[in-house]
Amino acid sequence: MEKVAIAVLGCGRIGRMHARVLARHPRTRLIAVYDVMADAAAETARELGVQAAASVAAVLADPALRAVLIATPTPTHVDLIIAAAQAGKAILCEKPIDLDMARVRACQQAIAPLAPIVMIGFNRRFDPSFQALRRRAEAGEIGAIEQVVITSRDPAPPPAHFVRDSGGLFRDMTIHDFDMARSLVGDIVEVQAMGACLIDPAIGAAGDIDSAMVQLRARSGAMVHINNSRRSAYGYDQRLEVFGAKGMLIAENRRATTVRASLGAATEAADPVLPFFIERYAEAYAAEIGHFIDCLANGTTPATSFADGVAALAIADAALESMRRGASVRLD
Ligand SMILES: NC(=O)c1ccc[n+]([C@@H]2O[C@H](COP(=O)([O-])OP(=O)(O)OC[C@H]3O[C@@H](n4cnc5c(N)ncnc54)[C@H](O)[C@@H]3O)[C@@H](O)[C@H]2O)c1
Repeated sequence: MEKVAIAVLGCGRIGRMHARVLARHPRTRLIAVYDVMADAAAETARELGVQAAASVAAVLADPALRAVLIATPTPTHVDLIIAAAQAGKAILCEKPIDLDMARVRACQQAIAPLAPIVMIGFNRRFDPSFQALRRRAEAGEIGAIEQVVITSRDPAPPPAHFVRDSGGLFRDMTIHDFDMARSLVGDIVEVQAMGACLIDPAIGAAGDIDSAMVQLRARSGAMVHINNSRRSAYGYDQRLEVFGAKGMLIAENRRATTVRASLGAATEAADPVLPFFIERYAEAYAAEIGHFIDCLANGTTPATSFADGVAALAIADAALESMRRGASVRLD
């Protein structure tokens, strides 16, 4: 089987992780990395034995290149998606597409005639436990879904400079949960959000919140509750609960081992939950690449398509509006 030639744009936190996955993946051949910070690209290139490209244009000019993975800061995604589509490359772009719906719509229009394969990096959909839960719910094991509870708490708040450029908690972080909610209950028609700055005053000073609770109503009638925090003393808290007429499905937190200790101070004491996204979603990031390659091979639309990126951003925008107005916001 021929390996798909791919390049990574952006060698920061997530880009370097993706580059490592692509360099090892049995179905991809990482041929170049690029970063505006030449040192970041050179370091990644040296580690993985690939070329550090001199520019985006140089990456895209390579006729052997089939696809790019965009892992640059969010405000740069739209221009890179358009450039890659114009060069005839398939695109796997990190979430969110952009922070501004008008720019996202303009991007959608610009690339439509080129019909590129575009996948958005909603990696959690590819987590083996969440995937198994969704498949069992879809098979009718718990009957029609009535309620979903999504818990998503980061271990520690990001630095204030990150918060300033992130687009805010709903567009940067909760967007994963909005996508997860849609993947379970379909279209969302109503959003009600509360947010607060309970953890780090610097986040409040940067104009953002660090804690949120969001309720969604789906067209199906199902309701979703999302808990978000930028701090969790016990590690990266990622849980999912789906409730229906015939029962409930739960995907619990992951731990390094399944060993439990019973001692004087506590019984059934388990390992801490995994530290953060790189560890918790390692299998999901690899499976995401596998799905992208399947879509290229079969010419199919990815499960996390550009349209899914648009829909999740629309819910994030509605959540922000709901929080500001103190009222629920309808989406249909
Ligand atoms: N799916 C996930 O789990 C997940 C996790 C973290 C971040 N993200 C997303 O990934 C993206 C990157 O986040 P990050 O935390 O890795 O950021 P980062 O700041 O650590 O890395 C971004 C890198 O891109 C480089 N860069 C900036 N502009 C560029 C350009 N025009 N061309 C090439 N390189 C450029 C920077 O020099 C930097 O090295 C964001 O959109 C973020 O929302 C997704």
